[in-house]
Amino acid sequence: MTREVWGSRAGFILAAVGSAIGLGNIWRFPYMAYENGGGAFFVPYLFAMLTAGIPFMIMEFGLGHKLRGSAPVVFSKLNTKFEWLGWFQVGIAAVIAVYYVAVIGWAMSYVGFAFDQSWGTDTNAFFFSEYLKLGENSPSNLGSWQLHIAIPMTIAWAITFAAVFTGIKGGIERANKILMPVLFIMVLLLIARVAFLPGAVEGLNYLFTPDFSKLTDAKVWSAAYGQIFFTLSVGFAIMLAYSSYLPKKSDVTNNAFMTVLINCGFSILAGVLIFSILGYMAQEQGKAVTEVVSGGVGLAFITLPQAINLLPAPYIIGPLLFLALVVAGLSSHISIIEAVTSAIIDKLNISRKVAASVVCGTGFAVSMAFATNGGLLLLDLVDYFMNNVALLASCLIELVILGWLIKVSDIRDHVNKVSEFSVGAWLEVCVRFVSPLMLAWIVGTNLVNTFKEGYGGYEQSDLLMLGWGLTAALVIVGIIVNIVSRPAKDSAEDDAQEANA
Ligand code: ALA
Repeated sequence: MTREVWGSRAGFILAAVGSAIGLGNIWRFPYMAYENGGGAFFVPYLFAMLTAGIPFMIMEFGLGHKLRGSAPVVFSKLNTKFEWLGWFQVGIAAVIAVYYVAVIGWAMSYVGFAFDQSWGTDTNAFFFSEYLKLGENSPSNLGSWQLHIAIPMTIAWAITFAAVFTGIKGGIERANKILMPVLFIMVLLLIARVAFLPGAVEGLNYLFTPDFSKLTDAKVWSAAYGQIFFTLSVGFAIMLAYSSYLPKKSDVTNNAFMTVLINCGFSILAGVLIFSILGYMAQEQGKAVTEVVSGGVGLAFITLPQAINLLPAPYIIGPLLFLALVVAGLSSHISIIEAVTSAIIDKLNISRKVAASVVCGTGFAVSMAFATNGGLLLLDLVDYFMNNVALLASCLIELVILGWLIKVSDIRDHVNKVSEFSVGAWLEVCVRFVSPLMLAWIVGTNLVNTFKEGYGGYEQSDLLMLGWGLTAALVIVGIIVNIVSRPAKDSAEDDAQEANA
């Protein structure tokens, strides 16, 4: 089967940026920066971006472009013994996809609620009691299925399915060509309005005022690295898959820099947007900004609705804010599903249409576990383990393989051969020394802390089954598939076949 290719360079960059910019930028980054030292968070964040984010993006784009396959194929072509890492990454993507879509679904519901602020004044009670109908549930006692949550999730799945089913150029590229400009226009319009509200500057002061004492805290560095990998969609099969559809004559380095810089620039825009709103809200309520900030789910579905109640023209700004979340989420969800779909296509040699149907059908069914009363708790627990344990561990193993078990200079040579400007030996220094050392420290600390302290006050049995157990299962399945599978053909063979075709 001839491999599909992107229609244009701009199309590829928009898709890569669309994958990178997601829920992580809007609801995780602003709060994370605030929590972890405000302005000082930019030190570990930029350090992680320069020493891990950019090198990872260049390496993954280079590998995808050179070896032209999804994550399992790429790792298998490096050495057949490494294929399991590709499947582990595909597994992480599959798990993230099934809960990520739930948040998109909630955001879709909130676009509707925002028109008349039907969440009322007690937005906390509205979200937990009226919307989720969360009762005495736990991650393993999910309660009943909620149709009003399942419907928007189904719409999100339908959009992702349509894009992935249609293909790289006609589906994914086209979807991003619509979604990305829409997202940027919405966010810029929103900022233009909220940044001039009274109190907005106070909010921004909180976001950007540095607290350098935080820089000695391992958790701050861990947060910065975790955020960089998640936000850049590296280490979980996505950018390898996307870059495997690059035409032979493609630039790698420039594309990688552009993707990283646009994504991280967007995160700062999102920070300005959210903290302007929080500053305004604090002023309206006569409170300090510290009293009104919250992160993650709380920020998006409790604090923002409260702030929207106080905003001028809430029926315009409110729906736009949630629509931005939906659009950012959808373009990322498409890429997460493509990472899984492309691996299935490559492995089973089946058509995209069949693979997309199987992946989206199965994903849809599993994701319904999150359309329940306790779906939020399951999501919280699984998200913690995927981001703080599985993804960081996967990135560390990938670095060890790329830096120590294969010749990293081969990839750099390939990248330099095809790119407008060359990368120097700093890439190897980052891949072999700086990033693995930092990650080994972070992964070690996270593992020990999570083991000793648990997470979120959840029961040991839930942590064991849905956290540690699920992560271990992804590794084991990867190893089994690796053992039973045929070795992937090497790229020389592929190239020869293509030349003959
Ligand atoms: N990169 C995507 C995000 O930040 C997954 O949400």
